[in-house]
Amino acid sequence: MADTLTGTAPDAAVPVPEFPMARQARCPFDPPLALKELQEEGPLTKVRLWDGSKPWLVTRYAEQRTLLGDPRVSADTDRPGYPTKASPDAGEGKLSFIMMDDPEHARLRRMVTAPFAIKRVEALRPAVQRIVDGLIDELLAGPRPVDLVEAFALPIPSLVICELLGVPYADHDFFQDNTKTMVHRDATPEQRGLASRQVAGYLDALIGERLAEPQDDLLSSVAERVHAGELTRQQATEMALLLLIAGHETTANMIALGTLALLQNPDQLALLRETDDPKLVASAVEELLRYLHITHLGRRRAVTEDIEIAGQVLKAGDGIIMVNEIANRDPEVFPDPDRLDLTRDARRHVAFGFGVHQCLGQPLARMELQVVYGTLYRRIPTLKAACALEDIRFKHDAFIYGVHELPVTW
Ligand code: HEM
Repeated sequence: MADTLTGTAPDAAVPVPEFPMARQARCPFDPPLALKELQEEGPLTKVRLWDGSKPWLVTRYAEQRTLLGDPRVSADTDRPGYPTKASPDAGEGKLSFIMMDDPEHARLRRMVTAPFAIKRVEALRPAVQRIVDGLIDELLAGPRPVDLVEAFALPIPSLVICELLGVPYADHDFFQDNTKTMVHRDATPEQRGLASRQVAGYLDALIGERLAEPQDDLLSSVAERVHAGELTRQQATEMALLLLIAGHETTANMIALGTLALLQNPDQLALLRETDDPKLVASAVEELLRYLHITHLGRRRAVTEDIEIAGQVLKAGDGIIMVNEIANRDPEVFPDPDRLDLTRDARRHVAFGFGVHQCLGQPLARMELQVVYGTLYRRIPTLKAACALEDIRFKHDAFIYGVHELPVTW
């Protein structure tokens, strides 16, 4: 099969690198060195996945945005060529509209956009500030050292998404533990399937309750669509599952990993500790999102019609993986990309993806992170890690990157 515009066959002698690649142990905040080298060589290359398939890996910012905005690129996991999951054990299963194409994707997404609009999210800021202050009060009154993930990073987004959806926070251990299994790369398909079914069953029961007795929450709006015949009960449950998982696991990892990155960069941490300027805090959030890309296994897509790009032809039926973390380190767009610089303008990052699937919850995630990064280090100015960096377990084994625990003291 011809792989290039000129129609020359790929050079069989050139080894195809395996994906995903490992990060260097000493640089846990940086993308794998092999990814950087591939980016230097060019915007597109073939990689080999665990099952032997060879999708395109898109490493540069410009080409990633072009392809993520191209309607000939599909997010439907059932399309021929869709790059398989990250490991043989990754399991199957669809997670609502994140794995669909327009117009069905847009129809479903529209049903749940309203609570994530900037105005609605801003109205929640005082409540989020109260949650953050309350958890810091508890930290200060409790024993030291403490695991920041368990005591602070996970509860904040979980409390917020529970409130929005109408899921009782008292059940957080149940859905957080199951989510951990669902995003764990080494979980077996059986474990992943069971975890997903358990949370889905739980959400389905809550939707049932809302059908009988609507309340002022997102589960009730979804239930209303079921009542109106616009959604099946299963579609409603899958949508609630997507929102619950995306709503807490991502932001929680950004809180803990961001704090660790700041503790490793004391000059940058000092900027946040000493400022009450919301613009600097907002800029810090964008830079940390750029610098620490947590959805590290890439946006996966299938090509539905031939596409010419960067001197290559991506054929219908080819798979594509766009690793946003390496695009966020593209020196063409972000000078000196491996430096954490809270004062730079990082707003063009692709940490929330790009195109029609761009993160629905980004206004909420941004606001939560602004409250956290703008409060934690000012209220606990002597915050420090309670163990060496080498002893921290990073989530190389999960679909969403971060740290398993972050022991801190002050
Ligand atoms: C720092 C936190 C977060 C990060 C880094 C993040 C990242 C992402 C990325 C990269 C995508 C694009 C996926 C793709 O193109 O395949 C996405 C989609 C999505 N995110 Fe987030 N996210 C975050 C927080 C949230 C929150 C708080 C919610 C709230 C429920 C949320 C809900 C969603 C949904 C529903 C989608 C699917 C959008 C669609 O397919 O149209 N995310 N997110």
